[in-house]
Amino acid sequence: MAAVHRDDAYANLVLPRLLRQARLHGRDAAFATELTYGTLRLTGTLDAIIAVAADRDVARIDPPVRDALRLGAYQLLRTRVAPHAAASTTVDLVRAVAPGAIGFANAVLRRIAERDWDGWIDRLAPSADGDPVHRLALAHAHPEWIVRSFSDSLRAGGDPEETARALAADNVAPPVHLAARPGLMTAAELAEEVGGKVGRYSPYAVYLPGGAPGDVAAIHEGRAHVQDEGSQLVAAALADAPVDGPDDRWLDLCAGPGGKSGLLGALAAQRDARLTAVEVTPHRAQLVTTATRDLPVTVITADGRDVGQIEELPEQGFDRVLVDAPCTGLGSLRRRPESRWRRQPSDLAPLTRLQRELLAAGLRAVRPGGVVAYVTCSPHLVETEVGVTEACRRSGYPADLVDVRPLLPVDMPDLGGGPSVQLWPHRHGTDAMFLAMLRRGPGPS
Ligand SMILES: C[S@@+](CC[C@H](N)C(=O)[O-])C[C@H]1O[C@@H](n2cnc3c(N)ncnc32)[C@H](O)[C@@H]1O
Repeated sequence: MAAVHRDDAYANLVLPRLLRQARLHGRDAAFATELTYGTLRLTGTLDAIIAVAADRDVARIDPPVRDALRLGAYQLLRTRVAPHAAASTTVDLVRAVAPGAIGFANAVLRRIAERDWDGWIDRLAPSADGDPVHRLALAHAHPEWIVRSFSDSLRAGGDPEETARALAADNVAPPVHLAARPGLMTAAELAEEVGGKVGRYSPYAVYLPGGAPGDVAAIHEGRAHVQDEGSQLVAAALADAPVDGPDDRWLDLCAGPGGKSGLLGALAAQRDARLTAVEVTPHRAQLVTTATRDLPVTVITADGRDVGQIEELPEQGFDRVLVDAPCTGLGSLRRRPESRWRRQPSDLAPLTRLQRELLAAGLRAVRPGGVVAYVTCSPHLVETEVGVTEACRRSGYPADLVDVRPLLPVDMPDLGGGPSVQLWPHRHGTDAMFLAMLRRGPGPS
């Protein structure tokens, strides 16, 4: 917790190492993980509760004591740990880091225990006539600007119930999704090998039932990789989009760390095509190289916006282009416990500028008649539909939106009115991936 708040570390990178160092396994490791991730997810609401119980802003509480109180509040309000056990382990923690604060911590915990979670939400945001966004934000522990963005994207202004379901889905740890690499193994074979279930929608997906993906032999041997099922679907949709004429030059313009390049590379191998994978950050380009070894993939470290100047690229343009743009990641908050509190609305402006420039570069790089898939792992309208409209308007290249719904599995519900698609954890069990597809018209306009 301290590493996350003090050093800006990522919990899902730090925690497994700490668990190994502490030699915690099995149920103890699972409980420590649930406590850490749960507390990080709910931090904003836990802090609002602690502030009332302590009668002071949490910023004025010594950070180690504040972290202990967050863990204590989480146990009291969101777990089945007996209240006396939750309070006494929290006080033990405070004794170890700040003995002078034991009395204070005891008093705060006693006050927190006077209500349950719903009771606290009613106390902090009374429902009658209150601001529904404020209440949803507290009840489901998301910043208000994210609640608004989900609600806008779901067009659920009139249906706060669906916004609530979308927010609630971020508070449930999803299973790790694996992708069986086409041509190397089937999803059924992978499911049998790992003792998991095949995915609901992607023909390549398998849900890992538990354990570390690092222990899966198929991953070590390049027959499978870790990838959210939604990511698999959008990459497969690009590969399946109808294209007239040549179809052997594919481009991934934002490739690191290489999940979609891995899947596209395996599909390209089956179809005698080649994938060029561009990534601006050298160490991420290295990850793409590792993720695509033995596949017909060329990795180039470069800025995707300079695509016209990259010598290795074919002059006549690409047949299929993926622009999986850097984004706020609001679509995968369930996989990154702390990230909802780190992201700021001010992150949007520089990211959307970059997204539009990269999509415009994608439109430059594709040949007339070829297709560009624009993907974000965010449902924020500014990063999705608004971004696509703006980039097309400014790129100077004529392009028509393709209806992507027929490119997704027929049994997939709730895909909206098209032509683009927004996936959701609460609807589809995937990350909230957005997919728009554009077909380039003839020549610059
Ligand atoms: C959303 S991630 C891509 C994920 C990847 N497609 C996958 O499936 O693993 C966006 C990537 O774009 C890279 N990026 C950012 N700016 C870029 C630029 N100007 N040109 C190329 N890549 C860029 C980031 O470093 C990051 O690796």
